[in-house]
Amino acid sequence: MTKKILVTGGAGFIGSHLVDKLIDQKGYEVSIIDTLEEQVHGKRDHPPDYLNKSAKFHRGSVTDYKKLEDLVGESDVVFHLAAMVGVGQSMYNIKKYVDNNILGLANLLDILVNSPHNVKKVILASSNTVYGEGKCHCDSCGVVFPKLRSLNQLKHKEWELSCPNCGSKVKPLLTDEDSPLNPSSIYAFSKQAQEKMGLMIGNTYGINTTVLRFFLTYGTRQALSNPYTGVCAIFSTRALTGKPPIIFEDGNSSRDFINVNDVCQALTLAIEKNAANGEVFNVGTSIPITIREVAEIITRKISPDLKPIFNQQYRIGDIRHCIADISKIKNKLGYRPLITFKKGIDDLIEWIKPQAKYIKETSEIVLDKLKEKGLLK
Ligand SMILES: NC(=O)c1ccc[n+]([C@@H]2O[C@H](COP(=O)([O-])OP(=O)(O)OC[C@H]3O[C@@H](n4cnc5c(N)ncnc54)[C@H](O)[C@@H]3O)[C@@H](O)[C@H]2O)c1
Ligand SMILES: [Zn+2]
Repeated sequence: MTKKILVTGGAGFIGSHLVDKLIDQKGYEVSIIDTLEEQVHGKRDHPPDYLNKSAKFHRGSVTDYKKLEDLVGESDVVFHLAAMVGVGQSMYNIKKYVDNNILGLANLLDILVNSPHNVKKVILASSNTVYGEGKCHCDSCGVVFPKLRSLNQLKHKEWELSCPNCGSKVKPLLTDEDSPLNPSSIYAFSKQAQEKMGLMIGNTYGINTTVLRFFLTYGTRQALSNPYTGVCAIFSTRALTGKPPIIFEDGNSSRDFINVNDVCQALTLAIEKNAANGEVFNVGTSIPITIREVAEIITRKISPDLKPIFNQQYRIGDIRHCIADISKIKNKLGYRPLITFKKGIDDLIEWIKPQAKYIKETSEIVLDKLKEKGLLK
């Protein structure tokens, strides 16, 4: 029998690619519930053109119990991707992030426990941000987990991480799933809450639940109208509109950039493999790329004359390094990231180019907002 799948947030960046894969490659029946958040989709009353026409689209919020209950009642699998996704924004829109991300999942779990349904699997979209700073190595102390850098340290432009025991400088290692969680924003906290709530209810009631911690996901369809989206979309959009990338600190912060197609590979493995049940997996590449490198790669491809702006500013709560250890998902689910950063960026730029003349580039409005709230120094 064809599996019936509900994708919450299925009109968004990752969700819409997942919907394509579920329908076109796997032949599943897919329903979507999505609010079409204005910040992500602009003002619109119909789903975006890229959305798969074979999916059943329902406009609504996961915070609407009745609506969600009806859709869950018709599903075998739920991918829960609906969320507010801005890290910095979550530090001043606290209620909105808690309502959508924590209470939204509370609705889903309450329905799974109290209403009739046939749901056999739930997959939750978590994030690398739950870790805070990643795992590191200190020459004297071995493996350590540095705390967030202090305001005083940032004020003195000492960007690199120090050992929490002896204070020496440390080097980043790959961060595995057993590393301590240390979220440094309301968004990250909401993802940690989702993980705990989902696994607790899943274990208690025998609902197979999998948590996937996506690292920095980039690719086509990432909202360009949303100034809170990922750095690749922001730098590409700025370059295509003649503006140089703005780089915080010294540009040597490193991240693990994962293409959206590889994230979708992990999402589908999570429903196909029983080894995924009740587990938490990192979804990344294990390859560190600095923000400076991202800026260079993107501007070289679009407009080599643009020189990145190093404004010596920093955002409170930003982490310095976090790179995924993906041994667990490789070994248990057979996951292999397939798309190189260079290839993924080529695809992203090809997709943004034709839209460039219509784009209203707004990333600096966000910087003003962060400054007003004291979150950017
Ligand atoms: N993009 C990344 O780098 C990244 C990294 C880690 C985790 N994630 C997680 O992956 C998921 C998808 O993120 P994305 O990058 O595709 O973001 P996105 O903003 O493109 O997609 C989220 C979708 O959810 C919808 N939505 C928001 N609140 C809703 C609600 N209450 N009810 C129904 N729909 C709602 C939005 O309209 C949007 O279409 C999120 O849970 C996010 O936290 C993303
Ligand atoms: Zn030490």
